[in-house]
Amino acid sequence: MVGNQLNTVIEAVPEPMLHLDAAGLIVASNAAARSLLGDWIQGRSYAAVLRQPALLGRIETVQADGNPGEARFELADSAGSTQFRVRITALRGLSETPASLRPDSARFPLLLHFTDITHLREAEEMRRDFVANVSHELRTPLTAVLGFIETLRGPARNDEAARDRFLSIMEDEARRMNRLVSDLLSLSRVEAAERMRPSDLVDLRAVLDGTLAAMRPAAELTGNTIVLHTEAVEAVREKGQGEAPRNLILGDRDQLMQVFLNLTENALKYGGPDRPVDLTLSREDGSGSMKGKVIRVDVTDHGDGIDPQHVPRLTERFYRIDTHRSRAMGGTGLGLAIVKHIVNRHRGRLRITSEKGRGSTFSVLFPEA
Ligand SMILES: Nc1ncnc2c1ncn2[C@@H]1O[C@H](COP(=O)(O)OP(=O)(O)O)[C@@H](O)[C@H]1O
Ligand SMILES: [Mg+2]
Repeated sequence: MVGNQLNTVIEAVPEPMLHLDAAGLIVASNAAARSLLGDWIQGRSYAAVLRQPALLGRIETVQADGNPGEARFELADSAGSTQFRVRITALRGLSETPASLRPDSARFPLLLHFTDITHLREAEEMRRDFVANVSHELRTPLTAVLGFIETLRGPARNDEAARDRFLSIMEDEARRMNRLVSDLLSLSRVEAAERMRPSDLVDLRAVLDGTLAAMRPAAELTGNTIVLHTEAVEAVREKGQGEAPRNLILGDRDQLMQVFLNLTENALKYGGPDRPVDLTLSREDGSGSMKGKVIRVDVTDHGDGIDPQHVPRLTERFYRIDTHRSRAMGGTGLGLAIVKHIVNRHRGRLRITSEKGRGSTFSVLFPEA
């Protein structure tokens, strides 16, 4: 009777649960457990079903002493591995014999409750990787600076030429750390606000003009030109056909500026010297999950292009195709991660297309306001 009620309760729980009797046989399981472990488990010994030493050991302990326990259970299939935390609870009240009369060999019936913790584990791993990456990125310039300080105090104490050279390297390294810290702060600010949709009306044309004004001096130094193409949009406006097209979106002006600065900077850096960079503003009909009109900006370079295998990973933090090259050009490896978060916050899309030997286009699409 009590057992039947227990089975009804187990059946109502969405996570996998097993009920083991005092002999260790599976006397009840719910649908989630059967879909996880198979339909054949009913009436089997838990040891034949679960088969993972760490978990079996914990179950034996709880069977014997009746104190609640916990263990990990991992299930691997072609789709990857799923991690479970298994809570093991003795059903003291269901033991047939009163505790005082129980022989030492008697075992408790148990309840096993599985919780999928794969995502928790992944988040934990991501956090660990991130901390390790940041530490590594900071350690390299720090080691250089400390090394030069030592040299300046010792062997190069009276060498004026060496002092100037070392100080300028130290300045570069300090600036690198500064950029890294600013990028980390931007990233954490954008992440914190990611769920708050921006509400200012922003004209993307004005943001692009600002980007151009900010980037042109640097571009001239490397012989690059940056060209803004808005013909399609402007032409319609001039002809006065129908409703005047707008470039307005709901946005955060500073963050949008950061998106186009980062993309343009990459196009200049990775597109190579003397190669033009094109910014194209256009409007189109949304497709897929983006309904209505969409305002689109393409940032196109004419560099070497990107191998397709790298494309899906470019927006990961610290992911670089060529770490040495990125560092040499002052990169932090965070630019595209910041871009992705800002675009997400604006409910926009980032699309990357690239052709080896011809160049790459980073497109951002935003719903029109
Ligand atoms: N326009 C581009 N052409 C080729 N590779 C690019 C381009 N933009 C970005 N990448 C690659 O993506 C990586 C990550 O970019 P980003 O996050 O901006 O970091 P950073 O520029 O600091 O290295 C770069 O290191 C580079 O390998
Ligand atoms: Mg960059």
